[in-house]
Amino acid sequence: MALKGHAKRASELRAQLDEANYRYHVLDDSQISDADYDVLLRELLDLEEAHPEVRKPDSPTQRVGGAPVGGFPPYAHRRPMLSLGNAFDENELVAFDARVRKLGGIEGDVAYTCELKIDGLAMSLRYDGGTLTAGGTRGDGTTGEEVTANLRTIRSIPLTLRAKGAAAPRHIDVRGEAYMRRSDFARLNEDRAARDLPTFANPRNTAAGGIRQLDPKATAERKLSFYAYAVGEIDADALPRTQHELLEYLHKLGFRVNEHARPVSSIRDVVAFVQEWEQKREMLDYEIDGVVVKVDDLALQAKLGTAGKDPRWAIAFKFRAREAQTKLLDITVSVGRTGVLNPNAVLEPVQIGGTIVSNATLHNQDYIRNNDIRIGDVVTVIRAGDVIPRVVGPVLELRKKKLPVYTLPTRCPVCGADVDHPEGEPMARCTNASCPAQLVERLRHFASRGAMDIEGIGDQLAATLVESALVNDVSDVYHLSLEQLRALPRMAEKSASNVLAAIERSKSRGLARLLSGLGIRFVGWQNAGILAGDFGSIDALAAASEEELLRSEGIGPEIARSVVLFFEQAPNRAMIERLKRAGVDTTAPLRERAPAGVLAGKTLVLTGTLPNLTRDQAADLIVAAGGKVTSSVSKKTDYVVAGDEAGSKLAKAEQLGIPILDEAALNELLEGPRP
Ligand code: IVH
Repeated sequence: MALKGHAKRASELRAQLDEANYRYHVLDDSQISDADYDVLLRELLDLEEAHPEVRKPDSPTQRVGGAPVGGFPPYAHRRPMLSLGNAFDENELVAFDARVRKLGGIEGDVAYTCELKIDGLAMSLRYDGGTLTAGGTRGDGTTGEEVTANLRTIRSIPLTLRAKGAAAPRHIDVRGEAYMRRSDFARLNEDRAARDLPTFANPRNTAAGGIRQLDPKATAERKLSFYAYAVGEIDADALPRTQHELLEYLHKLGFRVNEHARPVSSIRDVVAFVQEWEQKREMLDYEIDGVVVKVDDLALQAKLGTAGKDPRWAIAFKFRAREAQTKLLDITVSVGRTGVLNPNAVLEPVQIGGTIVSNATLHNQDYIRNNDIRIGDVVTVIRAGDVIPRVVGPVLELRKKKLPVYTLPTRCPVCGADVDHPEGEPMARCTNASCPAQLVERLRHFASRGAMDIEGIGDQLAATLVESALVNDVSDVYHLSLEQLRALPRMAEKSASNVLAAIERSKSRGLARLLSGLGIRFVGWQNAGILAGDFGSIDALAAASEEELLRSEGIGPEIARSVVLFFEQAPNRAMIERLKRAGVDTTAPLRERAPAGVLAGKTLVLTGTLPNLTRDQAADLIVAAGGKVTSSVSKKTDYVVAGDEAGSKLAKAEQLGIPILDEAALNELLEGPRP
């Protein structure tokens, strides 16, 4: 690269870092993750090192942070609040140790204290005569913002120090991390979702926003926590001599000190500690983004001193990032083996922990709606361990214009058939039995014991038949020839003819087995038996309306809807024609209709949560007994079945004088009059 190219790149990096710095430190509204920031900063540091002529006095590498924003008075630090240099791998830890030994003039191992690097905000708390008098954010390291009233709301910050008399420091600046527990964060978001308020993206931003609330009550609501880990200016007798003693000292003064901090005797132990916590980080109730390694001996710390913005006696080992922000370009929908529609995020490619991520899961429609995720948003993406990356939510502050709310397609993106998405259910499904996306699973089910019982068609052959395009829906099974089967991989002459014979035998299983093999939603062997017995042929069943289906004992509204929807799909009807043409028995002996149920002619309304039955189960039982279930209470209602947390429907029933049943009373009613 030409010299001009280096200068240009350096100035681009400075502009990006300055903007990121300003957003992060002044606006508390970062648009890039810490990890991305570190990558840019690292590139600029390397560039300036290799080409010192591009270095500028105002480079972000020469200073720390930006100016405080208005709203809070400035808070001057009596001793600067330093930041830390980073290590990203073992070699960099070993190099750090080598530097410490060289500058400290040490022959053997150096003792360190390893501390978890809590992902929160650094704070400084001032205690005079044992009382908390002021506290501020780090800001640019020299001046922060005074947020004393907000800090007082944090329960793990003592308002007065516990040590009394000679042991108490006359003055002390205690430094540590304000952060939010994952459990508190989850509770806050649940609470906000219940109140229809937008939810927060992650604990760190929520803590940062909490500290900077102008109303301390709003800070208190977020339930922040604090870990103490360092001291600024101090005026006391009997000072600790090592970092691990300092932590004990802070603990005695009444601070929460992280329980996993550990003094170790060499850099090898540091490496082991780092590896241990990279594995165990998910177990914690708070987020950590690395390990802070500090020279244990405070006299050695003083001897080593600082270099620019970073102390020479400490380093931050950064874990691989798990989170990044990027733009949601589109939402595509794939169809799983059981017909479930899966929405997937198409992302502007972004680096997370060393891999480029351009796709992530969005789970389902409810997830997208509850988290208010829209195409065009800047979103936060998490990649934890080996699991599929997941979009956690939009960065609402960056939503500059109105974006449409996303809804799943009403037609299957693979085959174009209707999508079934029952009210109140998270999953939407394709209703086409021959949808290519579902075919392997459907075929395996069709051939299984409880259905058409075709020996030989298991997982493997089902997949081969679909892959080789010999089977495009289950009816194709009955049009296979011996030659076709023989030509398949791993298929011997004998097994091919065995499979063919099994297929032939399956033709006479009858309608009940056939129906259960077709995999109509909610139609398992039991309902298949009822429908076969009541309708007698697949043609009669295909022609039945929802009302007619509801007359069958045990067939509730959900089942009826699903059956009608199935037979409405043209590919399903064509498949049934082919089954018939192949000679598959699609009939069943009609059975005697059950006598009118005990609830014949009665209308019931369900409300609230019953102790044992789900609402659907209760509805199915009522319908099976000849009753009808409607959704609103009127004078025509015969009974209201009320469970826990029944609301307005119960009140209305009481008002109209309609008999109210609990689950036990409903069961009694269903059993009919005693002889
Ligand atoms: S010591 C000179 N100890 O990490 C010592 N920092 O990148 C400076 N942090 O600004 C801080 N946990 O916000 C220290 N146990 C810990 C820490 C910790 C988290 C944060 C802190 C600091 C940043 C340095």
